[in-house]
Amino acid sequence: MCGIVGYSGPKEPLPILINGLSRLEYRGYDSAGIAISDGNKITVEKKEGKLDVLKNHLKDSNIKGNIGIGHTRWATHGVPNDVNAHPHSDNSEEFAIIHNGIIENYAEIKKDLLEEGFEFKSDTDTEVVAVELSRKWNGQLLETVTDVAKTLEGTYALVVTTTKEEGTIVAGRLMSPLVLGVGENEVFLASDSAAILEHTNKMIFLENGDFVEIKNGQYKLFDSELNEIEREIQEIDWEVSEAEKLGYDHFMYKEILEQSEVIERTISGRLETTSKEIPIKQDEASKYEKIWIVACGTAYHAGLFGKDLFEKVLGVPVSVELASEFRYREPIVGKNDLGIVISQSGETMDTIAATELLKENGAHVLALVNVVGSSLARMADSVFYLHVGPEIGVASTKAYLGMLVAQLLLAKHWDSQNKLDVSFDEIAELPKLIEETMDCEKQIKDISEKIYKKNDIYFIGRGLDYALAAEGALKLKEISYLHAEALAAGELKHGTLALIEDGTPIIVTASQNHLLDKTTSNVQEVIARGAYVIAIGDNQSEKLENISDEYVTLPDSNEILTTVISIIPLQFIAYHVANLNGESIDQPRNLAKSVTVE
Ligand code: F6R
Repeated sequence: MCGIVGYSGPKEPLPILINGLSRLEYRGYDSAGIAISDGNKITVEKKEGKLDVLKNHLKDSNIKGNIGIGHTRWATHGVPNDVNAHPHSDNSEEFAIIHNGIIENYAEIKKDLLEEGFEFKSDTDTEVVAVELSRKWNGQLLETVTDVAKTLEGTYALVVTTTKEEGTIVAGRLMSPLVLGVGENEVFLASDSAAILEHTNKMIFLENGDFVEIKNGQYKLFDSELNEIEREIQEIDWEVSEAEKLGYDHFMYKEILEQSEVIERTISGRLETTSKEIPIKQDEASKYEKIWIVACGTAYHAGLFGKDLFEKVLGVPVSVELASEFRYREPIVGKNDLGIVISQSGETMDTIAATELLKENGAHVLALVNVVGSSLARMADSVFYLHVGPEIGVASTKAYLGMLVAQLLLAKHWDSQNKLDVSFDEIAELPKLIEETMDCEKQIKDISEKIYKKNDIYFIGRGLDYALAAEGALKLKEISYLHAEALAAGELKHGTLALIEDGTPIIVTASQNHLLDKTTSNVQEVIARGAYVIAIGDNQSEKLENISDEYVTLPDSNEILTTVISIIPLQFIAYHVANLNGESIDQPRNLAKSVTVE
């Protein structure tokens, strides 16, 4: 939700900012802007629309300076337009500021400022901070920013520059992510490390309440009381090319195709019973009385898959919770409980708040996250990284698969009584299996041609297949804007069956043999109402195959691995249906990756 980039050093900031923003556009894309200071004046340029509009606007410009800041916006306060785009300035245009987060008490501060005669151009909460900085200016940028920050309620990653203190950038964070990239006599700021990885792999992940003062390519870190502090520099081992499209039309497509390769990394070094990579050992895991899996969206769907596995191997109840709900109720969490929080970004506000709640109640928190050094990774007691590399497409694909596999690995390591019918050797074959599953794409493309004009599409499955169906439906609706709904197959007859009519597409996931007969009966029920059935399963589902209009046969494998790879045809369906409808795919309307607001 909003992407931030900053630069101080000997190079021209403009290309660095634009490049950084292009890597952050997945965080918001309704407007973009930059501010560059040459020491005497700050030039601000900003435009409504995707980054290309700003790029086009700047194509003949030659804005020079020694520091710069840039922003790509996902609107919270104020419609997307040029005026509401960041950077924002004070009335005398001596400050330029970019912000990710929400200032909850902006209206009160604005009222005071208006009474004192200050003026406002935009409807944003951020402009209030810019104006407030000018009102509170005390001759020193760092002090003024920390002073103002103390009065702000809400969340922020703030980056500020001013003509009143030549060559200085001050930035700070509270709940919204901010990374400092450390180069040779140059310093970068960004909302995530992938945006600046081409310049340096040395990163400092700022903690809540940290501030940084940057001058002439050097930095100093402070706490909010202005005590100088130190933070560890971490070296990120992601390749720059992983955050690039490499000739593909869409990041989402590239990320689907690279799943075999990235899952190789997820399992690497984690298949031996003695692996040191497993954060919680079996004897410890077996002591927990209850497990809470807490996450949002796609990560929540991954948690539905983990629930059955953990209940089976540990014999304790597992509750899967939507973080946005969990944080506002009073769940009975005990100190002998384990919280498993799942997140690609590690920055989702609701999941962070739910993690705090788990910790306050004494639960041990294990984070399954992808982004190294992210907030959740730092807050949790234990971390299990997905290692799937940067995910840029807003619709999560490879991270979801990584979440399934990470949970399968944990369950396998915690399975002291061999209740899971899968061996480490079979899990080792997963990358190969994923590669073979990619062969279904041609068939899925043809199926997509038949359904892309439909308005309603239903996904059904039982047990683990329902967890997959839920994710398949979310994928389809978020990028194709079609109405898609997932149902536990046995639930259809309790209401939704009324919506099935001639030609309604029903996508069936049927990977679990013990549920096959039941699922097949539910399919008969929709066929009797005229549904167009697309089923996905292995080669042992002859009955289902015979009655379906389309049958996607997954490669032969162990049953639970068949469930895992079932997501690939579902990802292809979402991708091809959206593509046939001419949708933008990587930047679906109204959405952004990394949801750092409530
Ligand atoms: C959908 C999608 C979202 C995220 C959700 C949580 O494709 O990506 O539903 O799963 O916003 O994000 P993370 O995993 O970063 O916590």
